[in-house]
Amino acid sequence: MITIVLGTRPEIIKMAPVIRACRRAGAEYSILHTGQHYSYEMDRVFFEELELPAPDHNLDVGSGSHAVQTGRIMAGIEKVLAEDGSDIVLVQGDTNTVLAGALTAAKLHIPIGHVEAGLRSFDRRMPEEINRLVADHLAEYLFAPTTLAEGNLLAEGIGREKIFVSGNTVVDAVFENWGIAKKRTGLLRTSSLLPQDYFLVTAHRAENVDVKARLKELIVGLNRLHELYSVPVIFPMHPRTQKMMKEFGIAPGGIAITDPVGYLEFLELEGNARLVLTDSGGVQEEACILNVPCVTLRENTERPETVDVGGNLLAGTSADRIVAAAEKMLLVARDWKNPYGDGKAGERIVGICKDTIRKTRRE
Ligand code: UD1
Ligand code: UDP
Repeated sequence: MITIVLGTRPEIIKMAPVIRACRRAGAEYSILHTGQHYSYEMDRVFFEELELPAPDHNLDVGSGSHAVQTGRIMAGIEKVLAEDGSDIVLVQGDTNTVLAGALTAAKLHIPIGHVEAGLRSFDRRMPEEINRLVADHLAEYLFAPTTLAEGNLLAEGIGREKIFVSGNTVVDAVFENWGIAKKRTGLLRTSSLLPQDYFLVTAHRAENVDVKARLKELIVGLNRLHELYSVPVIFPMHPRTQKMMKEFGIAPGGIAITDPVGYLEFLELEGNARLVLTDSGGVQEEACILNVPCVTLRENTERPETVDVGGNLLAGTSADRIVAAAEKMLLVARDWKNPYGDGKAGERIVGICKDTIRKTRRE
């Protein structure tokens, strides 16, 4: 039995190909949702659009400080795993759900598979960096998306035999859904947006949006772009950022802020954008896969592959640097090769899990 732990928007999206692969392979699995994300547009919309089975368990932990949230998830997962007969626990990425899932499984002596292992920003002020480090060092099976991620793991002394370069399941998600998104959502048709004629923005990193000066400067930079290029700047805004905009009393100016949108809608917006500006991990990857130039609103990235292929540029949150980076990225040829694999990562991961379970049972 494979227990798939997830709790936030990107985990649902990136675990969806693993869930689909489990179904195709006839593997026994269960879905454990921690409830770290719970608003309809951060959670249920993805189950509906991606036609995923309802979670077998939902811990409904909700929001809280890091310790409170992690602790609640651990207590909930412990209870489920103690009764679940799990052979392997799969976690994905770098959220508090991942940290809690990995710690709890390790203490119950259940092997952990870490999907998207080996990413490093080398910036331990990011909560995500701590979560990744812990999950990688507790996992028995490390599904690294690229050889660069594999190199990071080897450099930390993790045994080569534990590492599987699987590709990133985000490629599976994009390949599986891009065609559907183009046909189904028609968001562009029903809005006044024209392909290649708008910029798409997301931002939610705590280190950006929880700091008034940084969030303000970011909004100033986006407004400068809006004026310079006379194009709509569309910003489907994460609830954390919405909350901070209100708390800091920051006005959006000419930027078009909306609630977060579903995955199919977002893919359509991404694939047709002239430029993407983001501090999201998944959005950097997707822009790269869709050959849409990206400006990353951070000083570092754990996705350097996107920069190396020429699809991404780091700009931080200073208005001047955002404008300069956008200017550069608007000139690049959109012909780079996707560094994240062939869209069969889910299948590989499930194959390895099944083999492992078979071997362990035989022993
Ligand atoms: C979390 C992850 C981050 C990931 C992001 C994906 C951690 C430490 N952070 O950040 O790595 O990139 O998810 O989106 O795990 N809120 C809602 N509704 C929701 C969820 C959150 O309103 O469904 C609001 C609440 O005010 C909450 C805030 O957003 O306090 C932050 O949520 P939280 O899950 O703590 O962190 P994220 O910023 O979402
Ligand atoms: N996304 C979405 N709707 C939105 C914004 C983003 O479906 O309004 C998707 C996006 O396509 C990507 C994922 O959410 O797959 C990224 O999640 P997020 O930025 O919250 O987290 P991160 O990847 O930074 O951990």
